Amino acid sequence: MVKINGHFAAMPQSYLFSEVGARAKAYADKHPDASIIKMGIGDVTRPLIPEVTDAMARAVDEMKHADTFRGYGPDAGYDFLRQAIVGYYDAMGVKLDIDEIFVGDGAKCDVANITDIFSDDNLVVIPDPVYPVYLDSNLMRGRKIRFLDGNLDNGFLPMPDGGEGDLYYLCSPNNPTGAVYNKEQLTQWVNFANERGAIILFDSAYECFISDPALPRSIFEIEGAETCAIEFNSFSKTAGFTGVRCGYTVVPKALVKDGVSLNKMWLRRQATKFNGVGYIVQRGAQAVFDNLPSIRQNIDYYMNNAALLSDLMRLKGWKFTGGVNSPYVWMKVPYDGMSSWEFFDLLLDKAHVIGTPGSGFGKCGEGYFRLTAFNTLENTTEAIARIKRCL
Ligand code: MLT
Repeated sequence: MVKINGHFAAMPQSYLFSEVGARAKAYADKHPDASIIKMGIGDVTRPLIPEVTDAMARAVDEMKHADTFRGYGPDAGYDFLRQAIVGYYDAMGVKLDIDEIFVGDGAKCDVANITDIFSDDNLVVIPDPVYPVYLDSNLMRGRKIRFLDGNLDNGFLPMPDGGEGDLYYLCSPNNPTGAVYNKEQLTQWVNFANERGAIILFDSAYECFISDPALPRSIFEIEGAETCAIEFNSFSKTAGFTGVRCGYTVVPKALVKDGVSLNKMWLRRQATKFNGVGYIVQRGAQAVFDNLPSIRQNIDYYMNNAALLSDLMRLKGWKFTGGVNSPYVWMKVPYDGMSSWEFFDLLLDKAHVIGTPGSGFGKCGEGYFRLTAFNTLENTTEAIARIKRCL
């Protein structure tokens, strides 16, 4: 008789963004005339830049001809893209070897799948609030989990607390709070992990939104990180690839545990379970690095929305973090005793605006709410006008 994975029972009934989508749809079905503005899931609205689609079109053309057609690609991605990623890190002052880069179909999949290379006996430490995939993917494996509380007092940037732990997830700029670790804080984390023999799983999916040059965009800017950290990044938010799918993971060759290279383990895992990202998509991703000034314009567009949302918070006198160095605005629910989901309903009902309830990112997120800057300027301005008027 087959046995199912009983650990699923420990997980929330549905994935946060599926739940937000379902509630929004239920409201829209009941109120077909409501013009709803979606500021929930961080999905981009700007199209791909033409340089990216042109590169993809050229790749499509290559696929039409026998001499340029490509079948299965290399397990860790094509060298042309990995080399471009090496160059991107080089510009940040980080030297990587091409073999330390693994092209994948997005940071979400890799932060979840990386668990395959670690024993289920590890104690996983997760900041709270944070992107729910870290928790859900470890609950699926039945791992023990400990949380590091984030709050207004520590600026939503929890530090090592002296407690136990083996695998530490860090997300900077943080999703959902927008908080960013500075160099001193990340140095403390790296020193701690090296002393402890722990691993930091560093999600840098929002690094391109950092405008303050003093803030680190990669954990590998910190000395010693190559012996304790794995980093995940994505083209989704950087370049509008949410529907195209491409990201990358950096596993340093110096990262060795129990005498085994984690770089080799991850390669082995990917070669077995992952079929790679299509050639056409990888050519598009390569064009991102060749056209960073155009990519920058899209990032600036979203950050202008973030600034407008921040202005709204100040005007209303609502407490918030983020909105700078991050496309998310993380606000405290402005009514005493109101839960995050109650505020979700209120905002939807009064202003027809959808956001993400903070409690979906962890218990410390209860009483908070996230708005995303990933929308058009017109929608952002309209949502702000409605919130000013209705709340
Ligand atoms: C978010 O809204 O937190 C993200 O879009 C989710 C994701 O990147 O998977």
